[in-house]
Amino acid sequence: MGPTSVFTFVVSVTTITTQHSLFSVPDFPFHSFPFHTSTLFRSLILIAVSNFNLRLTISYLFKMVNLGDVFPDFEAETTQGQVQFHEWLGDSWGLLFSHPADFTPVCTTELGRFAQLQDKFEERNVKLIALSCDGVESHLKWIEDIRAHSKVDKFTFPIIADEKRELAIQFGMIDPDEKDATGMPLTCRAVFLLGPDKRLKLSLLYPATTGRNFDEILRVIDSVQLTAKYKVATPADWKHGTYCMVLPTVKDEDLAELFPAGVEQQTLPSGKGYLRTTPCPDQ
Ligand code: BEZ
Repeated sequence: MGPTSVFTFVVSVTTITTQHSLFSVPDFPFHSFPFHTSTLFRSLILIAVSNFNLRLTISYLFKMVNLGDVFPDFEAETTQGQVQFHEWLGDSWGLLFSHPADFTPVCTTELGRFAQLQDKFEERNVKLIALSCDGVESHLKWIEDIRAHSKVDKFTFPIIADEKRELAIQFGMIDPDEKDATGMPLTCRAVFLLGPDKRLKLSLLYPATTGRNFDEILRVIDSVQLTAKYKVATPADWKHGTYCMVLPTVKDEDLAELFPAGVEQQTLPSGKGYLRTTPCPDQ
């Protein structure tokens, strides 16, 4: 077997295994090619096909985590030592949020805000974990700046060191428009809220150039936690404590038992009674 044949064989195996195991795409129809098709020609076709498969494979393997999916477990180096994500989460809710880089102005204000609001997240049983694409030593020095800037002594949550962007790429947390000095794309400002079942409950993606709104982050946590417990949804601009919408799936005969504080049905031009409000059920 000459080198070209070995190469063809390796590429063929790659192609056929990726096609079969991941995508169930039918075999490439070499049998329908003329008998004299040269090895080189076959190789070129196989390379083209396997490059296509490689792209599909990468997008398959690194597919975004969808709402309701179990967030993948991972091991990472952090400012508080090595973390095995699922074990670290335990039975708590979790908020994983990413930052473009250490020692950058917007990120410093954001991490300062997380530090100022640590008690609010604890009250909600939400564990915080940040990610930035620099190393642990850099993170630890940066934390001193963050504490000075935000005037907080305690900084209790870990920052993941994702220097090679491995996690950022895996979880779709890259902002291709913002690059570091070496031309590598930076991490965007992602927020992933996970429930105690480790499933993704909410995700927010902001570009590197837009700092997050922390009232909104707390507000959506309140909504997601409330709606996990009661058969309600929260309306536009809802704030914790204000009225909620009864889920359309709740039958009229169950209203009294589920909502002892009462339900009001609004009259609408359509005559349909879908707009039913109830006082916030956890008040
Ligand atoms: C910042 O944190 O200020 C920042 C980081 C990357 C791009 C733009 C702004």
